[in-house]
Amino acid sequence: MAGPDIIAFCNQKGGVGKTTCALNIAVGLTLLRKKVLVIDFDPQAHLTYSLGLDAHHLTGTVYSVMKGTAPISQAAMPIRGMSVLPATLELARLETEMAGLPEKESLLKKRLEDVSDAQYVIIDCPPASGLLTVNALVACREVFIPLQMEFLALKGMSRLLTLIEDVKKRYNHNAPTYRVIPTRYDARKRLNNAIMDKVRERFGDRVFKAVIRENIAVAEAPSFGLSIFEYAPKSHGAEDYLDLCREILRKRPAG
Ligand SMILES: Nc1ncnc2c1ncn2[C@@H]1O[C@H](COP(=O)(O)OP(=O)(O)O)[C@@H](O)[C@H]1O
Ligand SMILES: [Mg+2]
Repeated sequence: MAGPDIIAFCNQKGGVGKTTCALNIAVGLTLLRKKVLVIDFDPQAHLTYSLGLDAHHLTGTVYSVMKGTAPISQAAMPIRGMSVLPATLELARLETEMAGLPEKESLLKKRLEDVSDAQYVIIDCPPASGLLTVNALVACREVFIPLQMEFLALKGMSRLLTLIEDVKKRYNHNAPTYRVIPTRYDARKRLNNAIMDKVRERFGDRVFKAVIRENIAVAEAPSFGLSIFEYAPKSHGAEDYLDLCREILRKRPAG
């Protein structure tokens, strides 16, 4: 059997919806009966907190896995049908600690070779283009880019595409390809619509047809440690994320 589909959620800009997408898509795919491993790869540990975990009381974390002190199978925690590799603030030290290693860009890829029982691996990246993000880009098969339909979003996106190209050339020749998730969309905003048209024109079928609308329940759910499916199963947010998950399960574009 081929290995899991490894997906990194990236955008150097913060607050665009990476963590929200990573978490709700992981739970959504689990609801659609897929086996999912979620990795919080951001030292801010927002995904970890959003699952209701207390980063101060964790034994196994992504840091210990990266340091080689625990295998993923031991460090990952079973939470609501998924396997979760949480983050703690010590992850922030990792970039400095890895800096001298010869294979510093492909450490995560190596660690993920042990994963045999997941169909999807979801990696939530920090809002930066440092060594953690590069590790995620080297390890993944696809990059999902959450994008708000705002004026500066496209500018940030071209920087990310340059980084992806660079990683592809230097470390990871087969991968990754990328897809765009339009998020926090508000149809009442003229600018949102204009930029959505531009994004679809420019990136074609790399843009998911499913669109995540701006939805208050999506923003509220993490403070209860819940995904949108548990917090507000009848909300627009739950509907949009389910559509998106179904689209992920269908065929992906070539290249
Ligand atoms: N569809 C949405 N509707 C409303 N608020 C959202 C939506 N998606 C994300 N948010 C909110 O936007 C903020 C940033 O999202 P987050 O996923 O943390 O971004 P990132 O991980 O890129 O920094 C959070 O407060 C989150 O709750
Ligand atoms: Mg985040």
